[in-house]
Amino acid sequence: KRLLPLLAMFSLLLSGCGREDLSVLNPQGPVAEGQLGLITISISIMALVVVVVFVIAAYVLIKFRRKPGQNEVPVQVEGNHKLEIIWTAIPLLLVIVLAVPTIQKVFAYGEDKWNEEGVLQVEVTGHQFWWEFSYPQYDITTAQELLMPVDREVALRLRTADVLHSFWVPSLAGKTDTNPDGSINHMSLSTGNPGTYIGKCAELCGQSHGYMEFRVKAVEAEQFDAWVEAFKAPAVLPEDSQLAEKFRTNCLSCHAVGDQGGFLGPNLTGIGSRETIAGILLNDINGAKGSSPVKDNLVQWLSEPQEVKPGNTMPDPKELGFSDEEIEQIADYLANYKLDY
Ligand code: CUA
Repeated sequence: KRLLPLLAMFSLLLSGCGREDLSVLNPQGPVAEGQLGLITISISIMALVVVVVFVIAAYVLIKFRRKPGQNEVPVQVEGNHKLEIIWTAIPLLLVIVLAVPTIQKVFAYGEDKWNEEGVLQVEVTGHQFWWEFSYPQYDITTAQELLMPVDREVALRLRTADVLHSFWVPSLAGKTDTNPDGSINHMSLSTGNPGTYIGKCAELCGQSHGYMEFRVKAVEAEQFDAWVEAFKAPAVLPEDSQLAEKFRTNCLSCHAVGDQGGFLGPNLTGIGSRETIAGILLNDINGAKGSSPVKDNLVQWLSEPQEVKPGNTMPDPKELGFSDEEIEQIADYLANYKLDY
């Protein structure tokens, strides 16, 4: 009976490991590889300690247990210098073996590489509950998807627009906090493997903390250049002039498309080619499991933003006077706003 809650807890722990794409055990870049190395060292040391302690305990329990008819008090031993030195030295040694590489790597991975030659500079800003990515070298600001070329180091500067968040891409690097005191944290990452890597906010930051997902997309260098070029094309607005005006006065006071609009909300340039809406509604772009057409996701998001991501700061479009039909049209326009890269 006592085992039951233990088993339940254990299965709960294991069930958390179900997401392959959020695993640190499958590193895709040098930083994540180094971090997995640290995990391996600490788990090996822990396993070693557990095994040694259990073996000694089992040996002592069996060997020195009270035998039938044995009623006298055993010899009382007090103090043993040799043993005490040994069991102080061994843990000390283990702590050193653990501490030296950990401290080395913690400082190495938090190094400011912003001004190193050849790096891609990206400013990361955490918002409740989305991520902003700025590329000062290209004069680009985007959201939710950090596009990077493979085989090029990315130097990140991390800060927050509101509360404490933490930037974490399990298969590449992290976690690094974004601090509300205005300070900037640094980290870097790189990968040689093209692909999409899932990122998560790893610090409880409010109602939709659990939904604060983003993507890091690693592409070939030429594809990255094509993206930069496509991103900088003039803004595309809804074709219908009345709708365009409504979109401009309402949506563009916070969001931006191309060179127009504001920076309070996520930049919408090329949103039709992003893999998610709001970080969590999976777009049917790569035919991912459980994904929906971009337009359907946009209609869902625009119709009930608070249902999809509770506590987010986007005003309800219906309360701004958008009819169901107009929401449909805006969704259609955004779904088709794609970047060719
Ligand atoms: Cu942002 Cu949790």
